[in-house]
Amino acid sequence: MIWPRRSAAAGAAAVADAKADALAEFHGPLISLRNVERSYDAGGQRNYVLRGITLDIERGDFVSIMGPSGAGKSTLLNVLGILDSGWAGEYHLAGSAVHTLPVKARTALGRRHIGFVFQQYHLLDELTVAENLDVPLSYRDVPKAQRQSLVADTLDRFGIVGKKDLYPRQLSGGQQQLVGIARALIASPAVILADEPTGNLHSSQGREIMDLFSELNAAGTTIVQVTHSEENAARGKRVIQLRDGWMA
Ligand SMILES: Nc1ncnc2c1ncn2[C@@H]1O[C@H](COP(=O)(O)OP(=O)(O)OP(=O)(O)O)[C@@H](O)[C@H]1O
Ligand SMILES: [Mg+2]
Repeated sequence: MIWPRRSAAAGAAAVADAKADALAEFHGPLISLRNVERSYDAGGQRNYVLRGITLDIERGDFVSIMGPSGAGKSTLLNVLGILDSGWAGEYHLAGSAVHTLPVKARTALGRRHIGFVFQQYHLLDELTVAENLDVPLSYRDVPKAQRQSLVADTLDRFGIVGKKDLYPRQLSGGQQQLVGIARALIASPAVILADEPTGNLHSSQGREIMDLFSELNAAGTTIVQVTHSEENAARGKRVIQLRDGWMA
């Protein structure tokens, strides 16, 4: 198992406590979408990529989004991750009305609660592996010494200590994917959104990541993953099928 029990890491405990405080007051679906639509302008014509998405995700759920290529899975995950603001409809995250917030406040809300694993990794090219892992901690009030120990623990847990001073372009695709997963998890977010998180991993490594997700979910983390794999989807509690931007 890549991710041992947390008891040793004081930093992780501090981050987890801060998270619990932020969400303790809230009861109801952690994520609630009403009639969310996303479209792009294609030469004067509206091209709809998401349509009428209405969805509640409770705390502790583990949801798999499936559907053919181009169905809108990454688009939906980007909306959930507050990485996109060009959509219409309503989105409540832990009771906050995302659709009414200015973009800066939306971004801050997402950073506080969400860890995101990108389909294309999106590591920061100018930062080393260790510096990439530190980014989510820098968004939270984690003291510097705890940040350093959390980064060291995480490098160790993901078996990438030897890569810590390398830049993303010096890593294989699978290694970049692992760093992307480590970065999403390092600050113990309440919600993990993962877009094909094991797509570039060796099958045994992919299973370890899914074991890790199952463990985090059992401990209360809410997870939404996009996957083409029936085996990975079976790790979750339910499946949402997307077809041409509609929920089937
Ligand atoms: N910036 C954009 N401008 C115009 N169209 C876009 C843009 N981003 C995505 N799309 C379109 O939205 C549709 C859905 O794309 P999306 O990336 O969400 O698909 P997906 O289900 O994640 O597919 P895959 O399984 O291949 O990753 C596609 O038809 C795509 O061309
Ligand atoms: Mg995609």
